[in-house]
Amino acid sequence: MPTHQVRPFMAKDLPKIFKLAQAYWKFEKLPGFSPNAYKKLVTKILKTPALGKIWVAVERDQLIGYLVVVFLMSLEYGGISSEVDELYVESSKRGRGVGEALLTAAWQKMYEKRVVRISLRVGKSNKKGIRFYRKIGFLERNEFLVMDRKR
Ligand SMILES: CC(C)(COP(=O)(O)OP(=O)(O)OC[C@H]1O[C@@H](n2cnc3c(N)ncnc32)[C@H](O)[C@@H]1OP(=O)(O)O)[C@@H](O)C(=O)NCCC(=O)NCCS
Repeated sequence: MPTHQVRPFMAKDLPKIFKLAQAYWKFEKLPGFSPNAYKKLVTKILKTPALGKIWVAVERDQLIGYLVVVFLMSLEYGGISSEVDELYVESSKRGRGVGEALLTAAWQKMYEKRVVRISLRVGKSNKKGIRFYRKIGFLERNEFLVMDRKR
């Protein structure tokens, strides 16, 4: 019986999410984490559901994991598509199904709302992350190269 519960993120979770988000940024070697900037973006998502949705895993009133999913319209995919923006489970809580529970809860809700696809980027060196995603049914798209351009 899992001791954690997965539910949508609420405004009252804001003070608790920074620790996890900062740990995720550190894991991904993303520079310049700012709680204030992060709070603004999270609040924007909360106020504008079409932009995305955040899920948290809670154990004894503590946040132990979170998932941020963002949405975009895709003609090629035939509807609203989604992307995993951030997924993190506290290191001491891994390997107990928390990551899978977060993605499953999110996917079930999105499926009900007719979201057609969920995509993600995972670092090529993140072997554990890649194995995790493969295990829960994600397939690699080797025919594509990820490219982007900064502002
Ligand atoms: C990737 C990540 C989110 C997975 O979270 P997690 O909670 O450990 O994931 P799960 O427990 O659902 O699955 C992980 C493993 O536990 C196993 N597992 C799942 N439920 C289990 C259970 N009830 N009991 C024991 N093991 C279980 C899974 O089979 C899986 O096994 P594997 O290591 O052989 O692949 C987590 O490792 C993490 O936060 N990593 C750092 C950040 C990251 O890489 N994010 C993704 C990149 S975008």
